[in-house]
Amino acid sequence: MKRVDDFRLRFGNNEYVPIMVGGMGVDISTSELALEAARLGGIGHISDAMVEDVSDRRFDTSFVKEKTKLYKFNINNMDKAVVQFDLGRLAEAQRLHVGRTMEAKQGPGLIFVNCMEKLTMNGPKETLRVRLNAALDAGVDGITLSAGLHFGSFALMADHPRFRDAKLGIIVSSVRALQIFLRKNAKLDRLPDYVIVEGPLAGGHLGFGMDWAEYDLHTIVAEILAYLKAEQLDIPLIAAGGIFTGSDAVSFLEAGCAGVQVATRFTIARECGLPDKVKQEYIKATEDDIIVNGISPTGYPMRMLKNTPAIGSGIRPGCESYGYLLDATGNCAYINAYNREVVAHPDEKNIVVMDKTCLCTHMRNFNCWTCGHYTYRLKDTTHKMPNGEYQLLSAEHVFKDYQFSVNNAIALPEKEF
Ligand SMILES: Cc1cc2nc3c(=O)[nH]c(=O)nc-3n(C[C@H](O)[C@H](O)[C@H](O)COP(=O)(O)O)c2cc1C
Repeated sequence: MKRVDDFRLRFGNNEYVPIMVGGMGVDISTSELALEAARLGGIGHISDAMVEDVSDRRFDTSFVKEKTKLYKFNINNMDKAVVQFDLGRLAEAQRLHVGRTMEAKQGPGLIFVNCMEKLTMNGPKETLRVRLNAALDAGVDGITLSAGLHFGSFALMADHPRFRDAKLGIIVSSVRALQIFLRKNAKLDRLPDYVIVEGPLAGGHLGFGMDWAEYDLHTIVAEILAYLKAEQLDIPLIAAGGIFTGSDAVSFLEAGCAGVQVATRFTIARECGLPDKVKQEYIKATEDDIIVNGISPTGYPMRMLKNTPAIGSGIRPGCESYGYLLDATGNCAYINAYNREVVAHPDEKNIVVMDKTCLCTHMRNFNCWTCGHYTYRLKDTTHKMPNGEYQLLSAEHVFKDYQFSVNNAIALPEKEF
């Protein structure tokens, strides 16, 4: 019986343990978590979601305070078009976040950064250009393009000296999305170094509609493998979404994938950025507690715990400080939903907004508990302590369980109580 460790992910002449820990914004997949994956010979992701805020919290900068001060005059104005990111400051924050992580890297693995296109930041093209190039400047090993079709993203980096040596990959959820991406980028003469195929059981935003349950990761992977073979394209495929045990991973490696990307199992690792209280919520969740809804202003369905504080919360939009989801014209679906409720309930102090959420503020405060479908199985991966709480894990324990387990077994940690 094979285990993940019998396989290797190859980039050029280098080999890695074929386990990627997926990017989880906002700072849920911390540097510490990514660094552990790299130390153990795999690939870790940090995320650049809300990077200015992440930098302030980690490095004592004051990017958010400065921006808030600059745009304070606009707080009661529902037109957010003026609230622009300073591109120089954005680059600084990105270089700090990525650079400090790279400086701390030890071991044979790699550190990638997850860059979501849906973070349109009131200037989609320019802000994405800055994020991508600043990450390359800071020496990141690779960039995973996510949450979007990224038709123009390679072109935004094409003049960077590291464009052809950094590992660049994209997350897709269908063969069609990959075909279009390859067609749009054909003239750059640079294929992606890897393609992550994310199925409908993943955490965060889904690349499917509300009919997500009709899709299956194995089927999509088989379609993409067949397409790559027919086109004679040799691009490593990484399967993601609902891979809960080492044996699940092996089933994809045996089917022809070069690696797997996993995240949910790591949300209850100590190195994960979620507050401990929230980690306990994840572990305690039952299958019925995990829902997919449309409250994300991005328009993509998002999976989360039913008791997520962000659901129904009618806070004032925080775009002067954050504004990561403002589109090219300064709009966000939450602003419209919030205004509608304010107009409908003029005397109400506590506004309730059910259909959308202020995702920046709630993700930043760890109040939007996005999670993978199998979060309800996390309780099978650890011990319940006498006080009713669950023991948290080390990232190393989870990583090695994926790497070495067989027979769908899940190794429990040594008891710490
Ligand atoms: C808490 C959480 C947050 C996530 N945030 C992001 C994100 O910001 N960007 C992204 O591309 N994927 C995100 N994902 C998806 C993961 O990177 C990964 O591809 C997927 O969850 C793998 O499936 P699994 O969680 O079942 O192992 C997130 C997943 C989780 C569990």
